[in-house]
Amino acid sequence: MRNDMEEILISEEEIQEKVQELAAQLSEEYKDRFPLVIGVLKGALPFMADLVKRMDIHVELDFMDVSSYGNSTVSSGEVKIVKDLNTSMEGRDVLIVEDIIDSGLTLNYLVELFKHRKANSIKIVTLLDKPTGRKVDLKPDTAGFIVPDAFVVGYGLDFAERYRNLPFIGVLKPEIYQNQ
Ligand code: PRP
Ligand code: MG
Ligand code: MN
Repeated sequence: MRNDMEEILISEEEIQEKVQELAAQLSEEYKDRFPLVIGVLKGALPFMADLVKRMDIHVELDFMDVSSYGNSTVSSGEVKIVKDLNTSMEGRDVLIVEDIIDSGLTLNYLVELFKHRKANSIKIVTLLDKPTGRKVDLKPDTAGFIVPDAFVVGYGLDFAERYRNLPFIGVLKPEIYQNQ
């Protein structure tokens, strides 16, 4: 897998240090509350697992699976709910966990949906933010790293479902996705 990388953009150590920092910040923000932490499958899984382990408050975990990319490198712009939540969020403090915000379409859709479902508050934490990809005006409340307009994979981010299990964030060699 490592041979398919042009470069390592964010090392495992850098990620873990940042996750620790974000977890401390969020534990303080949600102190004495019981947030409903919602991971957006599948990309958010490694980040969410590491993040919540480092938060020293009570949290409820749930997941939504929404998909907009399929096996393509370009967003179709369509957001589809593949798996919904198991619990009601009315009156809850909702923290949405994402691996990356690119066009912003996925989170824009989820935030509108959660407002409609009467969450008490809705916040977004994302490990990566790619502001150059934005198609809608959406800002995360908390972000780990800003990434350039490159095809990044690893730590949850996939190309055609591969590379999610890399412990670092890397830039994929163009020949890998050009051959598809
Ligand atoms: C990716 C990523 C984010 C979303 C970001 O998910 O994990 O959820 O796209 O892109 P956007 O800001 O342009 O909407 P994807 O839909 O590929 O599903 P996955 O998490 O299962 O890979
Ligand atoms: Mg995703
Ligand atoms: Mn993806």
